[in-house]
Amino acid sequence: MFHYGVDYYPEHWPEERWPVDARMMAEAGFNVVRLAEFAWSKLEPEEGHFDFDWLDRVLAILSDHGIRAILGTPTASPPPWLMAKDSGMFRVREDGQRVTYGNRREYCPNHPLYRDHSCRIVTAMAEHYAGHPAVLGWQIDNEFGDRCYCPVCRQAFGDWLAQRYASLDDLNLAWGTIFWSHVYNDWVEIPTPVQTGGAPNPGLALDYARFCSDSYVEYQKLQVDILRRQCPGHLVTHNFMGFRYDQIEYYNLARDLDLVAWDNYPRTQWGMGADVDASAPALGHDTMRGLRGGPGGQNFWVMEEQSGPGGWQMVSVPPRPGEIRLWAYQAIAHGADAIIYFRWRTARFGTEQYWHGILDHHAQPGRRYAEVKQMGDELKHIGEIIQGTRLRPAVAMLQDYDARWAFQIQGNNPGFAYPRHFQEVYRALHARQVGMDVVSPMHDLSSYRLVVAPALHLVSPALAEKLEHFVAQGGVLVLTARSGVKDPANNVVNQYLPGLLAGLAGAHVEDYDSLPEGARVGLEVELPTLDRALTLTFGEQAALNLPCESRCATTWCDILVSDGAQVVARYSEEYYAGRPAITLNSYGKGQVVYIGTLGPAALFDALAPWLLALGGVQPVLRVPAGVEVAERWQGESSLLFVLNHTGQAQEITLPRAYRDLLDTGKAVDGQVTLPARGVMILA
Ligand code: GLA
Ligand code: ZN
Repeated sequence: MFHYGVDYYPEHWPEERWPVDARMMAEAGFNVVRLAEFAWSKLEPEEGHFDFDWLDRVLAILSDHGIRAILGTPTASPPPWLMAKDSGMFRVREDGQRVTYGNRREYCPNHPLYRDHSCRIVTAMAEHYAGHPAVLGWQIDNEFGDRCYCPVCRQAFGDWLAQRYASLDDLNLAWGTIFWSHVYNDWVEIPTPVQTGGAPNPGLALDYARFCSDSYVEYQKLQVDILRRQCPGHLVTHNFMGFRYDQIEYYNLARDLDLVAWDNYPRTQWGMGADVDASAPALGHDTMRGLRGGPGGQNFWVMEEQSGPGGWQMVSVPPRPGEIRLWAYQAIAHGADAIIYFRWRTARFGTEQYWHGILDHHAQPGRRYAEVKQMGDELKHIGEIIQGTRLRPAVAMLQDYDARWAFQIQGNNPGFAYPRHFQEVYRALHARQVGMDVVSPMHDLSSYRLVVAPALHLVSPALAEKLEHFVAQGGVLVLTARSGVKDPANNVVNQYLPGLLAGLAGAHVEDYDSLPEGARVGLEVELPTLDRALTLTFGEQAALNLPCESRCATTWCDILVSDGAQVVARYSEEYYAGRPAITLNSYGKGQVVYIGTLGPAALFDALAPWLLALGGVQPVLRVPAGVEVAERWQGESSLLFVLNHTGQAQEITLPRAYRDLLDTGKAVDGQVTLPARGVMILA
């Protein structure tokens, strides 16, 4: 069964309303809700006095309507009575200030008392709901995140370091503490990198980021262990925050769960542009799918899918008619096996009273309800067909949390941000209708033809060897500037850049120019004719002679020396005019492209068809700009999702006959018109 549903907060509404809600949910086609993840003060109003009666009654009503539940463990938002016990449980921020009560996520994940109380409420809930037929599983906490710098964490950091380093001598050597006389004689001398300490030692700061991430992984594991013990038949997940969140090593956080779920808000008050860049949610989905599983990743759930305008203080641009359904199908196209909207009815009170759900405050069904109901009707027919299908991309992008943290500590250039750079490269490839995995550098790469690793900053000998093997076997690897700069301790390597990857690149960086804001350095580009069969369209061929707005470098210029690589682009300006900027090297059966700059985005757009052609990767279907195509496979057959993200109808030319599963299986062939924000699922 395809899971389709909504996040529901019955505790916000009178009990008489619950049966009406349940009926309307069932009519919309919902079969699952998430409940209780912020209900600690109702589940345990006073210490040790648990009240599950209300939740039992909600579950009974929902269950009468064929709806089952994911229960949230309520630890993201502790009740005041708990936090009044010990102010030491409040998190300390990087600026050294202790958080106070009033929002949520105020706790320190390492505090023993907070851990005890978390385990108590989780145990009580797990014991009560272990055999409950309406309970499907658990979401642990809610959107883990936020580093803590409190004294408890400082002590725990010392213990964590003592585990990681055999001795203080090793630690001093690894961090280079001789610099500015920071040599530590005792573990307790080691500080946390709070802002009052000034710009920290990069080795210490990176280890602190790793420690904070491990703290949440460990805190989550306490809850996982209880749930596994008490409720062996239940699934256990957490709601992640997509590509954009970068304070937790998500590969580790995903490890102890059954599946990854995430919260997808294509348009919120925080990014109030009128247009949604469809590559942004796509990147979120691909990143989440890549957190678990081998090639193609593991399908995921969307635990919170946007169903209305977001809003805390501001009210975001509402989803235009058709967008809620379009974004939900986009999620499915990228591997979602469940769509759960946030939220059922817009709250009348609290911080999120403008975060709109499917129903407005007045609860009368409107256009958003009609849209999710339409999709619910469709899923009744096609849910079974979608279930069990998986993605099978030939392209992978390597994203690395160590790199993200190293760049948080030292940004390198004010015009550079690793997530933005990554997104620009992703967007360029995504616009060419190729499926992509976004995976950790240590992932199994053997099934990919093209691997793109933007600014792969930290490289261990094991990673270098793995990439060498991938290319030697015939893979194409693409690197950009600031790759191979650091070792895993966050120290700069003592060789020409890109360090351990220089042999693969067949080129090295002799000098570099960190560019001031707005500066552009011209490029002369001559992309070599490919010996693989070129199957680019005429327009794409033309793009190979890069359009002039993309014939430049911004932010950073690596001044390269070829050690055998073919020069693909040279700088045409500056003291390094004529020196190589982009190279292509043959290595074993494969090839390596080194792009010695970090922008502009238009450069990656222009290079994308050539890079894909180098990897022999074909677009799934050729479609107009703004239309996205994605493919889910089962055995030898696939489902083709065609998604029109534009506000206009688009003409699509199909190369063969298909059935459109969303249009009663109607046969389609040749030229078809996809309405504005329309979706086709072709089989
Ligand atoms: C997050 C949280 C939800 C809610 C929404 C909207 O995704 O998990 O509880 O706060 O954002 O703000
Ligand atoms: Zn702490």
